[in-house]
Amino acid sequence: MRSTLVVGNWKMNLLRGEAIELVAALERLDAVSDDHVDVVICPPFTALSSLTDRGFQGIRLGAQNCHVSQKGAFTGEVSAEMLLDVGCTYVILGHSERRRDHHETDAEVGRKAHHAVHVGLRPIICVGEQFEERQSGQTQEVIDRQIDGIVETAGAAVVSQAVIAYEPVWAIGTGLAATAEQAQQVHASIRARLEQHAVFGDVPLLYGGSVTATNAAGLFSCEDIDGALVGGASLKAQEFAQIVHEARQSTR
Ligand code: PGA
Repeated sequence: MRSTLVVGNWKMNLLRGEAIELVAALERLDAVSDDHVDVVICPPFTALSSLTDRGFQGIRLGAQNCHVSQKGAFTGEVSAEMLLDVGCTYVILGHSERRRDHHETDAEVGRKAHHAVHVGLRPIICVGEQFEERQSGQTQEVIDRQIDGIVETAGAAVVSQAVIAYEPVWAIGTGLAATAEQAQQVHASIRARLEQHAVFGDVPLLYGGSVTATNAAGLFSCEDIDGALVGGASLKAQEFAQIVHEARQSTR
């Protein structure tokens, strides 16, 4: 059985006090994991240890990136071991904002995923096409290329322990989410591609890009959508809680 996940990507937002307040609000609103849905939040690095020290149940911690090496002379970087040390169980890798701003490649994302799994973190690996690529009918080709590049570097065994997030770049932060049909089509193709690479097992496939409390139910009703990677809406307690509740409904 594939698990259902709702992941909040807080990006570069919230100071420590604000992060603690938001988590407290999520607990009050019952936006926490249960037998059906896992709830994960990915705050900025600076808030991670404060949240771990505060302690909470039912919400798992993730980071938004990690370095490919264990330690060394890499100024400004954070290793997977360090993330584990502050209580993370997940790490987002290959987000389109990192691909855009830090020129991360599929091979690099694959290497990071390999190291993260080796250390004991579960990677949430992001893929997705640009607007122009969708317009010119290249979506499938782009996604296949990304999956191929990642699996070739990380290895099928590693990817089978990961989570994949399909995030069309044109949908991120634009308010223009993919339709359930568009997302389902790509998710089905990702699942087929993974099988071609002998990545079996129950890899959850998340949709990300302008997910809201309003469009979540439609997305979650699709056969190959196992949850969401939520950016903007994860900073609003009520809205994120509603998305978690929609995910719970979809598993019943
Ligand atoms: P968004 O971001 O929900 O604000 O579109 C999603 C993401 O970047 O993971």
